[in-house]
Amino acid sequence: MTDIQVLNTIMDRRFSCRGFLDTSVDRKVIDAIVATAQKVPSWCNSQPWQLHLLSPRARDQLSARLLQAAQDGQEAPDIAFPERYSGAYKHRRSVCGWQLYDAVGVKKGDRDGSIRQMMENYRFFGAPHVAIISTPRELGAYGALDCGAFVTAFTLAASAHGVATIPQAAVAGKAAIVRDVIGLDAARDVLCAISFGYADPDHPANAFRTERAGLDEVVFDVD
Ligand SMILES: Cc1cc2nc3c(=O)[nH]c(=O)nc-3n(C[C@H](O)[C@H](O)[C@H](O)COP(=O)(O)O)c2cc1C
Repeated sequence: MTDIQVLNTIMDRRFSCRGFLDTSVDRKVIDAIVATAQKVPSWCNSQPWQLHLLSPRARDQLSARLLQAAQDGQEAPDIAFPERYSGAYKHRRSVCGWQLYDAVGVKKGDRDGSIRQMMENYRFFGAPHVAIISTPRELGAYGALDCGAFVTAFTLAASAHGVATIPQAAVAGKAAIVRDVIGLDAARDVLCAISFGYADPDHPANAFRTERAGLDEVVFDVD
C-alpha cells in the first residue's frame, strides 16, 4: 500500500463510536496512542493539551454526577458552545443527528427516546476509558485549536491500533463537575472528553457512517 492508502485506511476506519465492549485497552497501547497524537503541530510548539485519564472508579463517579446534573438540563461549559448552527451547518447537524436516531430507532417526535440517547453521553456510551482534554485558558482560541489537533490525532492513532473513540463536547457542558472530579488546575479549561475502547460491532448506534461535503463547498480558489 502507498502511504496515502495507509492514511486513508486509518481515516476511513475511524468513526464516532457510540457502543463499546467492556474489554479494556492495555495501558501500553493507550500510552502509544498518546505518544503518536503528541506529534501534531502546535503554535510555538506549546503542546498545550493535557489528558486526565479516568480510572473505572473515577469514570463511574463522573458518570453518576453528570447524569444527576443532566436532570436540570443546564449547560455551563468553560468555553462557550456554538451560538447557533445555521445554513449548511444546521443541515449537516440535522443529517447526522437523524442518522443516529434512525440507527437506534428514535422516531420523529419521540422526545423521551432522544433524551435517552442524549443521556448516553453521560454514560460515555459504555466505554471502559474516558480521557478529559483540557487547555490552558491563557492560550485562548489558539490553545483550543492545538488541543483540537491533538484530539483528532488521538482518534486516528487509536483507530490505527483498532481502538474506537468518540470526542464528546457534551461532557464539557458540565465543566464544574468535570473539574471537581478530576481536580483540574483553575488556570485550565475543560475542552472535551474522549471516550474510547473496543467498538461493539453489533451496537445499532455504530451502524451508520457520516457524510462529508463536496470539495466545491469547502475549497475557494483565489486568483
Ligand atoms: C469536538 C467534538 C465534540 C463532539 N461531541 C460529541 C458529543 O458530545 N456527543 C456525540 O455523540 N458526538 C460528539 N462528537 C462526534 C461528532 O458528532 C462526529 O464527529 C460527527 O458527527 C462526524 O461523525 P464521525 O466522527 O463518525 O465521522 C463530537 C466530535 C467532535 C470533533
